[in-house]
Amino acid sequence: MASQDTSTRSSAYKVPSRELGNSILCGSNQSAIADSRCRPFNPFVPRKSFNAGLKMINNYLHFFINRVQSLSSSDKDTKEEGYTFLHALSHYTSSKQVMRDQLVSILLAGRDTTAGTLSFLFYELSRHPEILAKLRNEIIQRIGPDKLPNFDDLRDCSYLQKTLSETLRLYPAVPFNMRLALKDTTLPHGGGPDGSQPIGVLKDTPIMYAVMHLQHNPHYYPPVSPEFPDIDNFCPERWNRWTPKPWTYLPFNGGPRICIGQQFALTEMGYTVVRMLQKFERIDRYWKDGEMILKSDIVMAPANGVRVGFWEATSAKRQEL
Ligand code: HEM
Repeated sequence: MASQDTSTRSSAYKVPSRELGNSILCGSNQSAIADSRCRPFNPFVPRKSFNAGLKMINNYLHFFINRVQSLSSSDKDTKEEGYTFLHALSHYTSSKQVMRDQLVSILLAGRDTTAGTLSFLFYELSRHPEILAKLRNEIIQRIGPDKLPNFDDLRDCSYLQKTLSETLRLYPAVPFNMRLALKDTTLPHGGGPDGSQPIGVLKDTPIMYAVMHLQHNPHYYPPVSPEFPDIDNFCPERWNRWTPKPWTYLPFNGGPRICIGQQFALTEMGYTVVRMLQKFERIDRYWKDGEMILKSDIVMAPANGVRVGFWEATSAKRQEL
């Protein structure tokens, strides 16, 4: 009952549609709901492609697990280049299954999230040459045309940080999520004729929530003004003097299950953007507005990729800035 209410309310929120196209294909979350609804028929749900995919992932991972397990203890201990998460794991467990599960967990959480976010970031830069120029200018001024950025460099590039925040605001990498009530409880809103009263939630009720809708709901933002353009617009400058209200901006979630890779992700993505923009000064887009389709299989990504062309900066121009 509670989950039904939640989905009815969230469908009233405005999903970005102005230029993005209005399609969000949501695979795994829907299958999670379907799974819980057709529990007695679960054994009859066809899983051929799922099992084939699983086999491919396992074969791939076991190759690396076997390689690390065949190393001597001193080789495993080497902290030089080439020391990986898997080497660290091999000290913690000798179980192939545990290693495989830990690897899948980190690969799932850490790869598509950052890859998808960077795709959306470069997509937006290709649509906004003025933002690209401002961002590149900051990078060249503060870090230079060739230098590898360190952690302090990235932190000092405030426009870069705002551009990342703005990307994660419009395109939260985990757009839909789910929790299961462990005991009978209430939620503060969602009940009553207008949804403003508390609502009861029985133990074992799955509750879907949508960070995507939350972050696209005008109710949680200041009114539109010259400093705060329409919330559907990509505008890193809106972060100059604005901080989101608590629990209204949640790309990394919050509370006990907050993303443990948040700092790593922001550093990794910032580093990638710096290295790309040190080398390239122009990004052309090879599609029209409205062609972007959002796809979410747990992690959100552009359904048809991002077709852009990067133009290398000439060395003269790199010095000039
Ligand atoms: C743009 C980048 C990223 C975003 C937006 C993101 C977002 C999230 C979110 C929303 C959750 C909570 C999921 C839930 O509560 O159900 C989460 C969990 C997690 N993330 Fe990230 N993540 C990112 C990158 C990374 C990276 C790079 C790593 C590691 C290398 C990572 C590791 C994890 C792990 C291990 C969890 C599970 C934590 C737990 O359940 O206690 N994430 N992430």
